[in-house]
Amino acid sequence: MDGGSEQRQITIHKPEDFAPMRAAGALAAEVLDMVGALVRPGISTGEIDRICHDYIVARGAIPAPLNYRGFPKSTCISINHVVCHGIPGDRVLMDGDILNIDITVILDGWHGDSSRMYVAGTAPTKARRLIDVTYNSLLEGIRAARPGAHFGDIGHAIQTYVEGQRFSVVRDFCGHGIGRHFHEPPNVLHFGRKGDGPELRPGMFFTIEPMVNAGRPEVKVLDDGWTAVTRDRSLSAQFEHMIGITETGCEVFTLAAGETI
Ligand code: MF3
Ligand code: CO
Ligand code: CO
Repeated sequence: MDGGSEQRQITIHKPEDFAPMRAAGALAAEVLDMVGALVRPGISTGEIDRICHDYIVARGAIPAPLNYRGFPKSTCISINHVVCHGIPGDRVLMDGDILNIDITVILDGWHGDSSRMYVAGTAPTKARRLIDVTYNSLLEGIRAARPGAHFGDIGHAIQTYVEGQRFSVVRDFCGHGIGRHFHEPPNVLHFGRKGDGPELRPGMFFTIEPMVNAGRPEVKVLDDGWTAVTRDRSLSAQFEHMIGITETGCEVFTLAAGETI
């Protein structure tokens, strides 16, 4: 996201704050597990959004995007060349579409934020490779996250891996601190140099959410004020996990069913 918080310092959360973040992250992950069965040619993004909304509310949680800075829906759904912040609506999925679904819940005052890629029907080989590279780039970032490392180490690991695969990293959006607020400091860049940026410390909670383009990295935002697309209309993919820095490494709060890191 675009940062833009009044808060200037990175929050160091208390050990007891891990439990509610674990619960919020688990709910976001559960919604993403659930939507896997919905994604198929013929369903509209608006229908997926409504089902996610109802699922979240039934769990006593709030869909954080709804009315967030004027965002009109409960989820972000970003298809093909849409990089992020796609607004669900009448668009019907077609065979071969690739899409990111981004879920953020507020559970007991704590935010759980995660996104994954899905395929409607069967995607072309290059699209599937883009998805695999994007997921692996997130893993590279997570592996760099431990106390004493710097935020630049995370960005460096992601950028080095992605560019080695001949894809590009989007510069205009980044991960973010998270907790009682949706977007807190710091901005978590998905590119950079080792040693740059603040040092990671136990109790920091943040997302890593690389957006990777098959073509050039430049994006533009459409007239709706939200939908970000690749300028060259190349495909784009994104995965997002929310993590907490521990004494020895990090805890991933948003693991999928069966996902091991
Ligand atoms: N979930 C997005 C993120 O990862 C933010 C979406 S903001 C919205 O930061 F308003 F577009 F929903
Ligand atoms: Co996020
Ligand atoms: Co998100």
